[in-house]
Amino acid sequence: MENKAWYKEMSVYQIWCRSFCDGNGDGIGDLWGVLSKLDYIKSLGVDGIWFSPLYPSPNADYGYDISDYKSIHPDFGDLDIFRQVLEGAHERGMRVFMDLVINHTSDEHPWFTESKKGPGNPYRDYYFWRKGRGRHRPPNNWDSLFEGRAWEYDRASDEWYLHIFSKKQPDLNMDNPRVREEVKDIMRFWLDMGVDGFREDVITYISKAEGLPSARVKLPAATGMKYYADGPKVKAYLAEFKRDVLDYYDCFTVGEGSLMSPETALGYIREGEEQVLNMMISFSHMQADCFMTDFIQRPFSLRKLKKALSEWQDALFGRGWNCLYLENHDHPRVISRYGSEKYPVESGKMLAAGYLFLRGTPFIYQGQEIGMLNHYLPRLEDYRDIMTKNNYRIARRLGIPEKRALFMAQRGSRDNARTPMQWSASENGGFSDVRPWFAVNPNYSSVNVASQEEDPDSLLNFYRSALEFRRENEVVIYGNYREHLKDSDELYVYERNYEGRKLLVICSFTEEPVRFDAPEGIDLESGEQVFGNYESCFVICNGFTTRPYEMRVYLF
Ligand code: NOJ
Repeated sequence: MENKAWYKEMSVYQIWCRSFCDGNGDGIGDLWGVLSKLDYIKSLGVDGIWFSPLYPSPNADYGYDISDYKSIHPDFGDLDIFRQVLEGAHERGMRVFMDLVINHTSDEHPWFTESKKGPGNPYRDYYFWRKGRGRHRPPNNWDSLFEGRAWEYDRASDEWYLHIFSKKQPDLNMDNPRVREEVKDIMRFWLDMGVDGFREDVITYISKAEGLPSARVKLPAATGMKYYADGPKVKAYLAEFKRDVLDYYDCFTVGEGSLMSPETALGYIREGEEQVLNMMISFSHMQADCFMTDFIQRPFSLRKLKKALSEWQDALFGRGWNCLYLENHDHPRVISRYGSEKYPVESGKMLAAGYLFLRGTPFIYQGQEIGMLNHYLPRLEDYRDIMTKNNYRIARRLGIPEKRALFMAQRGSRDNARTPMQWSASENGGFSDVRPWFAVNPNYSSVNVASQEEDPDSLLNFYRSALEFRRENEVVIYGNYREHLKDSDELYVYERNYEGRKLLVICSFTEEPVRFDAPEGIDLESGEQVFGNYESCFVICNGFTTRPYEMRVYLF
């Protein structure tokens, strides 16, 4: 028997507020802008909104460095407008999820400024302060994922503090029970206000190995990760949060599990007594054109993509629930990566069908629904994202020539996903009446919401129909998963089956013609073609030859 649940049936729209819609005319996206777009969001057919951090933050990492967990960044509004957005979403039948960033705070959070006052301070132990190894060597050899080493020296106390991300993001010491009480208090604050759950940022990093040991081998980057990724007490802490807070609310949690296998993820999300999260954000399928991070590029490999997707689909079947996504604020735009900028609408629809009809809860990132593309800025200084700059530095240190390093930074930059949302063909893409805080992709005159609203065949309207279809056909939600043509380098084909219904999804990842023959036992003519990205779709001898990035979905 399938364990049905609302979070399995929903789909979610992610908002990175700074670039969504400027409602107060200062060039920065905000909650007034979101309020004005709630009907649009609802019209997509989603059931929930995940907000990337809305809290006050010095923006060293655009909101993922929080200086106050119980308030709203003044750029975005205040708690009053947030409550209006929350109410407006609820009135329209959409839930609201906050980003919960508890692995680290900002160094401007009062806990840290107190902690920095010295060893006797009651907040000292909220963070990891340690003596160095000798005069100039940090306590261990871990790397920061954003800049150089993971430790920053404090002259006044002659101690170092740990920061897995930037030095403006000191890691919280979750082993301290007072810190865990603070986390629970923050959770209750938002849940009591009516928020419906959390996306938990790098949640698998919150417990560090006892003694913070040095790694035996120094790597070019990310040294030490094995001592904090999936650490010793992480599940115990998450279970505690669940027992003391989450279990009292009808809420949902999705964790971010960086570079994690499905088996490891199941340790958190396996349904049953031990489950501590509802879903885990996987990364494997986001590495079909890169290694580890978007920055270390490789040619796109459909085989890699299929292997990753199928591994998660198969491993989680009947045991846990998948979080489905192709874009978020941390990855370049997917058409530019896995599809084709030459065939943006065809490949955009193909990619959408390819993942929306998998088993799991789909997340759609702002702009993805209209096929926003990467936008490469001419100089490194034009970028805002700290990781982009760091990656460039690493590349230069490894001897990569300037031009190539810049190109890698451009292609891999998270800023590709952070350009302002393209609402219309008017100035600034309709995002703001004044100059936006960040470069708008100049293609806004052709790629925008307004023009796609009018076109029944637009990518935007495809997303709407696909989400509606998902809602109305349980086979998409609860069906099993079976991949076909695993060895194909061009086609991704899978079927889903549920209570006598079958869905067959065929996606071509190439502009070249490829012959597709229906798998044994499936007669295409006996099914109904429910989606496609070309008009007039013939079937010849129970198959067809694909057109560029062709996609077809059949229901039997
Ligand atoms: C993951 C977030 O998605 C990313 O944007 C952020 O930089 C890191 N965690 C650190 O919080």
